[in-house]
Amino acid sequence: MSILLTGAAGFIGMHTARRLLDRGERVIGIDVLNAYYDPALKQARLATLEGSNAFTFEKMDFSDRDAVLDLVARNPDIDRVVHLGAQAGVRYSLEEPFDYLSSNLTGQLVLMEACRAMMDRDAGCRSFVYASSSSVYGANREMPFSIDQRTDHPMSFYGATKKAGEVMAQSYAHLYAIPSIGLRFFTVYGPWGRPDMSPYIFTSKIMNGETIQVFNNGEMSRDFTYVDDIVTGVIAALDTPPKTGQAGAPHRVYNLGNNRPVPLMDYIGVIERACGRQAIIDFRPLQPGDVLETYADIDATTQDLGFAPTTSIEEGIPRFVEWYRGYHEV
Ligand SMILES: NC(=O)c1ccc[n+]([C@@H]2O[C@H](COP(=O)([O-])OP(=O)(O)OC[C@H]3O[C@@H](n4cnc5c(N)ncnc54)[C@H](O)[C@@H]3O)[C@@H](O)[C@H]2O)c1
Repeated sequence: MSILLTGAAGFIGMHTARRLLDRGERVIGIDVLNAYYDPALKQARLATLEGSNAFTFEKMDFSDRDAVLDLVARNPDIDRVVHLGAQAGVRYSLEEPFDYLSSNLTGQLVLMEACRAMMDRDAGCRSFVYASSSSVYGANREMPFSIDQRTDHPMSFYGATKKAGEVMAQSYAHLYAIPSIGLRFFTVYGPWGRPDMSPYIFTSKIMNGETIQVFNNGEMSRDFTYVDDIVTGVIAALDTPPKTGQAGAPHRVYNLGNNRPVPLMDYIGVIERACGRQAIIDFRPLQPGDVLETYADIDATTQDLGFAPTTSIEEGIPRFVEWYRGYHEV
């Protein structure tokens, strides 16, 4: 049987595909290779997968309903879906909200329709796992962020589309009994990471001798989760389709984070040591809307999925910086 994996050329998608292939799965990856960040990085990620016979790739926009349903019809052995493709990024959602509408809302509906079509086949749809985000916690201030908290006040359109994706999945789980899990990722980092995220930006600036901006004198803490730990959680979710969940429908939502917030200056110190250079820092006041500390309550994820992240930033950041040096030949 096969797994349909979206966002195969993306950061988390590529790592998840790799792990699934390594355990002997057949993976059909799709991605549109959009230019939100350098498509050459996406091509390079794909190249790491394409050596495997069990991996096939189709360049496809998953908001194209006919194309995705045709792919599912052509591949009757697909019995599970891992939906990691999306228009990511909080800030960019202020610039191009319609990209989020098509990828994150229409795209989510198309993947749910694909699962619905699979439910009519003998193999059915055994598991639908999709990416949500800690951004759904929006204006919440109570730490740690817990799945029991309300999430109806997003502070970005990106967060709104991720919350909408969860609500949409709930309706299809209720209507068509599709076993579904939404995973709220908290800042993921590691080799092949995204150039629009702080580990990459800080590393690049420190290596190039450029100034980094640090707010509130660095008196902030954040949750960073190493990509291998995230992939372990994604695959545990895929292997643990819920029988029941919210209001009886087989749908659950979990936090996938590290519940050990790291002070920002400690994190910068680890990057400095890995780069072998000191950061030039421009300290700025706290920005409106900035939160001093965010981290995840992962009790339910640990209990139901056995999720227990093990990688500290002292281990993970040097692995990222080593990849960065190799990739950029610096
Ligand atoms: N990386 C993080 O820290 C983080 C945090 C919270 C949530 N997430 C979510 O996790 C998922 C994976 O994130 P990532 O960091 O790997 O992002 P990414 O941008 O590296 O990967 C997403 C991939 O989806 C593809 N894509 C976007 N729209 C598409 C479309 N319409 N059709 C086909 N392909 C499309 C992109 O080309 C990209 O390769 C996303 O849903 C993201 O919102 C990530």
